Amino acid sequence: MKISASILGCDFSKMGQEVKKVEDSKVDIIHLDVMDGHFVPNISFGSAVIKSLREYTNLPFEVHLMISDPRKYLKDFVNAGADTIVFHMEIEDDILEIIREIKKYGKKVGLAVNPETDIEKIFPYVEYLDLVIIMTVHPGFGGQSFMKDQIYKVRKLKDKIMEINKKGLEIEFDGGVNLDTIKFAKEVDVDICVSGSFLFNSKNTSQTVKLLKS
Ligand code: DX5
Ligand code: ZN
Repeated sequence: MKISASILGCDFSKMGQEVKKVEDSKVDIIHLDVMDGHFVPNISFGSAVIKSLREYTNLPFEVHLMISDPRKYLKDFVNAGADTIVFHMEIEDDILEIIREIKKYGKKVGLAVNPETDIEKIFPYVEYLDLVIIMTVHPGFGGQSFMKDQIYKVRKLKDKIMEINKKGLEIEFDGGVNLDTIKFAKEVDVDICVSGSFLFNSKNTSQTVKLLKS
């Protein structure tokens, strides 16, 4: 299982060092939560911040866009150094066109599904995706509790993946992951878990990453 460190949980006054710290602690991915105060009721940071963090690590940057109009800003996030660009299924735009545009930039593409959204909604796009994020909290804030009632979505998605014989698609849980809840991810064999507040609040991040992975 890979661990993706959500920068939303770090000390914003020293983001660069925080990124270095989790890299040294052997996380696999840096997860960057972009919020526009419209798609979700909170504002976080944008492409300029991500660009400035790029020089602190060689780990892959997974940019999680919780914004209403991702299409408008794709180029900015590509230029900021994103390796994977994830946007939400629930936006009002042509999903396939955005997927194509992200691929045109040579980046990996992911779709995220909110807790209240049926997983079946993403089935028409599965063949084009590198990543699916199953939200295990309502997006917008770190430090919320893991929603167990989202776990069933993994099996449904895996059935679909089998059915169309799709290779290389990763499944990720985002929200509320800690040492207790990661066992649910293990049970259904999720590929990646995001960890924000739990990781950054822990005294020994290396030890925490080791424990999460085991
Ligand atoms: C929620 C974000 C998550 C969040 C995870 O809107 O998408 O990535 O930062 O934080 P924790 O691990 O604190 O739930
Ligand atoms: Zn996220």
